[in-house]
Amino acid sequence: MSLSQERILATEIPGPRSRELQARKVAAVSAGVGTTLPVYVERAGGGILRDVDGNQLIDFGSGIAVTTVGNAAPRVVEAVQRQVADFTHTCFMVTPYEEYVAVCEKLAELTPGAHEKRSALFNSGAEAVENAVKVARHHTGRDAIVVFDHAYHGRTNLTMALTAKNMPYKHRFGPFAGEVYRAPMAYPYRWPGGPEKCAEEAFDAFVTTVHTQVGEDNCAAVLIEPIQGEGGFIVPPPGWLARVAEWCREQGILLIADEIQTGFARTGDWFACDHEGVVPDLITTAKGMAGGLPLAAVTGRAEVMDSVHAGGLGGTYGGNPVACASALAAIETMQAEDLRARAREIEAVFVPRLRALAERHPDRVGDVRGRGAMLAVELVSDGHGRTPDAALAGQVHRACSAQGLVTLTCGTFGNVFRFLPPLAIGDDLLAEGLDLFEAAFDAAVGGKVE
Ligand SMILES: Cc1ncc(COP(=O)(O)O)c(C=O)c1O
Repeated sequence: MSLSQERILATEIPGPRSRELQARKVAAVSAGVGTTLPVYVERAGGGILRDVDGNQLIDFGSGIAVTTVGNAAPRVVEAVQRQVADFTHTCFMVTPYEEYVAVCEKLAELTPGAHEKRSALFNSGAEAVENAVKVARHHTGRDAIVVFDHAYHGRTNLTMALTAKNMPYKHRFGPFAGEVYRAPMAYPYRWPGGPEKCAEEAFDAFVTTVHTQVGEDNCAAVLIEPIQGEGGFIVPPPGWLARVAEWCREQGILLIADEIQTGFARTGDWFACDHEGVVPDLITTAKGMAGGLPLAAVTGRAEVMDSVHAGGLGGTYGGNPVACASALAAIETMQAEDLRARAREIEAVFVPRLRALAERHPDRVGDVRGRGAMLAVELVSDGHGRTPDAALAGQVHRACSAQGLVTLTCGTFGNVFRFLPPLAIGDDLLAEGLDLFEAAFDAAVGGKVE
């Protein structure tokens, strides 16, 4: 039975059943595992999350960019049920199965570049990033990895080192893995010389960092999110990534694109690199790829991926058959329903409204940015002063939650309000969600037109 695509406020949010469950959570789950909105979900589908109190919330978060095809997408449900009934695990490294191979074939077909590719499958994004770094070091015989300000690559020991932000990801979890170097990110809104000079100056700063702090010959890989996710949905200026890619190629440095958040139709193309015509040597994927089941991948040039000795990559669960079946069904859904086009439609709905909001509140909305169904507003307290206003982001977030709209914030300064709706969401829910967000925003800034 499909879930009705309507917002329902049956109780206050969170309701009594959710509050009971939250009390059990506090008594049983580590406090280190935080919860953005303690509303306990019972069912979900399309653009709706239904909670245990009968509330139906509009989903503008997709479980952090995962349920791109929607929750319980019909093809995914059917494929997972079939696979669970057939077999759930053999370990691909012991006795393999077709689904793993088929996912790797799809990755070769869809990721940027027409060159020969190989993939390896893992369970989480962080694990994929760890393995991309392993492969890059092994292939090049070099140690250093260059990452960027505002980067987010995960929470394992190596990926904490690759991630930029201290709180909450790294605070008192060190010491961190070595041979990680950080370059300035091409962040147009906050570039000291202004957005017009950002591409040029950020490229120069990157080259200088590698040359002076690392040495080109010591550098195995440059690792970058083509559009940064947790760091604030930062879209570098056009051409910057292509210059970085070209320079890396000249130096024999591998370019690893972390498309864990941006990949699989989210930005309006298969991958964010596609918008820039950039072909990375290695690409990491996870999240949207598998319709909600845990699956991640490293895909790369055949000669790079095949340079690793047998047994050097893998893990007990990596490429689990149920997750692979789910991924094949999710990708089929993206193709059959042209979800890349849907992401572009969502951008066309959101952007004019976010721009209008920025015009209404020029002192509070500093920037509107993003691509496809990965969009954000950066909130400030003083317009051109660009002082981050995390308190405003939090206030709007709480007001949206109370009205049954699930939203997420992000950013190094916690002041970016981001939108990641499932691509299966209908136009009515999109419009209603935006109405709720705008009303929450107007109320939070005092309802006055500035
Ligand atoms: C760009 C990027 N890389 C890596 C990760 C880590 O993925 P996971 O949480 O599956 O380990 C994330 C998760 O948000 C991400 O956005």
